[in-house]
Amino acid sequence: MYIRLPLIAGLLLGALGTNAKLEPNYTSPAGVKIFNPGDFFNVTGPWSLMSQAGDTLYIAGMRGIYTSNSTLAPVGMPRVRQAFQNMAALANMAGADITSCLRVVVYVTDMYRYRPMCNQVQIELWGDDPNKYPPRTIIEVDRLNDDDIVEVEGTFWLGGSSGMLV
Ligand SMILES: *[C@@H]1O[C@H](CO)[C@@H](O)[C@H](O)[C@H]1NC(C)=O
Ligand SMILES: *[C@@H]1O[C@H](CO)[C@@H](O)[C@H](O)[C@H]1NC(C)=O
Ligand SMILES: *[C@@H]1O[C@H](CO)[C@@H](O)[C@H](O)[C@H]1NC(C)=O
Repeated sequence: MYIRLPLIAGLLLGALGTNAKLEPNYTSPAGVKIFNPGDFFNVTGPWSLMSQAGDTLYIAGMRGIYTSNSTLAPVGMPRVRQAFQNMAALANMAGADITSCLRVVVYVTDMYRYRPMCNQVQIELWGDDPNKYPPRTIIEVDRLNDDDIVEVEGTFWLGGSSGMLV
């Protein structure tokens, strides 16, 4: 029985995270929902933070921006961690939890330096069970917005029990 407790606790936490129903800012004629939650940083251009089609949630490329004051976290682990946490926070707002991540795509400006940091942050987020990591693509690019170092894009599943609450 005690083996199941963490699972149950996790399910309860997941359910709590979905309590506050997030209203879409826009729903297209075909039913695509667009979200820009108010308690997050404002987008910096003609794009939105996330969209939902059916039970699938797509989150825009997240950088290591503190949502509290829209400033960038220090370069290195804090920046990388904040980028992933921003993605996780948006997923939570939409009713998905980290274990329902379908895919991540990570862009870094220095594979040698930042890939190990991404790996470390993913272990922090998903734990060290090698069976739980979402599929990932990681790409080194010449430049990111604001000359940033990392950007992570996530796709999440809202179906099953959490989807009913969204
Ligand atoms: C989107 O909706 C949220 C409330 O759900 C609101 O706080 C936010 O300002 C809206 N964003 C825009 C760009 O209108
Ligand atoms: C985001 O934009 C809204 C209106 O578009 C504004 O009221 C709000 O203060 C802005 N938030 C931040 C953190 O700049
Ligand atoms: C922005 O917020 C973060 C975390 O909330 C804090 O560590 C940082 O010092 C703040 N930066 C500024 C310029 O206020």
